Amino acid sequence: MKKNFKDLQTAFSEEIVKVKTVQEFEAIRIKYLSKKGVIQELYASMPQIDPKDRPTFGKEVNDLRQYVEKKIGELKTQFEKKKSKEVLDFTLPGRMPFVGRKHPLTQVLDEVKRFFLQLGFSIADGPDVETDYYNFTALNFPKNHPARAMQDTLFISDAVLLRTHTSPVQIRTMQKQPPPIRIIAPGRVYRRDTPDASHSPFFHQVEGLYVDKGVSFADLRAIIQEFAKYLFGDDIHVRFRPSFFPFTEPSMEYDFNCIFCRGKGCKVCKYTGWVEISGAGMVHPNVFKAVDYDPAIYTGYAFGMGIDRIAMLRYNIDDIRLFFENDLRFLQQF
Ligand code: DAH
Repeated sequence: MKKNFKDLQTAFSEEIVKVKTVQEFEAIRIKYLSKKGVIQELYASMPQIDPKDRPTFGKEVNDLRQYVEKKIGELKTQFEKKKSKEVLDFTLPGRMPFVGRKHPLTQVLDEVKRFFLQLGFSIADGPDVETDYYNFTALNFPKNHPARAMQDTLFISDAVLLRTHTSPVQIRTMQKQPPPIRIIAPGRVYRRDTPDASHSPFFHQVEGLYVDKGVSFADLRAIIQEFAKYLFGDDIHVRFRPSFFPFTEPSMEYDFNCIFCRGKGCKVCKYTGWVEISGAGMVHPNVFKAVDYDPAIYTGYAFGMGIDRIAMLRYNIDDIRLFFENDLRFLQQF
């Protein structure tokens, strides 16, 4: 009998050291300590033991039970500790929530807005689906004038089209209020272009318009120069070239020093030191007439700029289509 108890204890000890999982722990606990377990069966076998051996037998069973209970108890605490550690392991790296971010074009637009808002401009808006009148006629594009053909227009009907520029917002704003006017008008514009690295059938412009008594060409130059510095740095100069737009007179196109070589000449600027930005000019008297402003009293400047173009320069992106493909591998870089 003595030997039997020793064997039982050894067997149990060997089994318990192998326990790794909660399931294995449960199994060994049931095997030894449940109602039909090894220990209870030993107690149940008491009647068959010779009465004179019973006290010794009882003591052996008690000792074995205590031993088993102790070991199982210890193991239970170990498992519990491990479990609570798992729950409260502050060293584990956190789960990163997916945080969205602003589209690069929105980021650039936000900067443009910040510049003009701090100078007292407000933000104006107009519809993407425009009429011929606002997109062309009121802006002094006579019917059949070749300047219309330059804006590859997506017509919806003879009189309705997708706006080709944000300039119609000039007219809409001036119709709504008397001078002074100081607005920028950001928005999407559309052209009948086949997409390639530098063309997209839609893109984004910001229109600027400042009308008051005594607004001069010098004011226009100053604001564009300040804008260039704000956006790209103090060493960026602006160059103005004479040009033609029906709604401004005089008209010009403006270039910034190439932001990569800072004007020295490189591949991006084709070794000229300059990159084209957009057009600007003094508001044409006919535009004022279309909105019942008196051109003898008021003058104004207007300018355009391409947000996509500025963003491409800023981030050195050589394909405009990347902005519109919603590829997260691209968008997550900004
Ligand atoms: N609307 C012109 C375009 O899309 C850009 C432009 C030129 C806007 C001169 C202006 C301006 O306000 O004065 O080609």
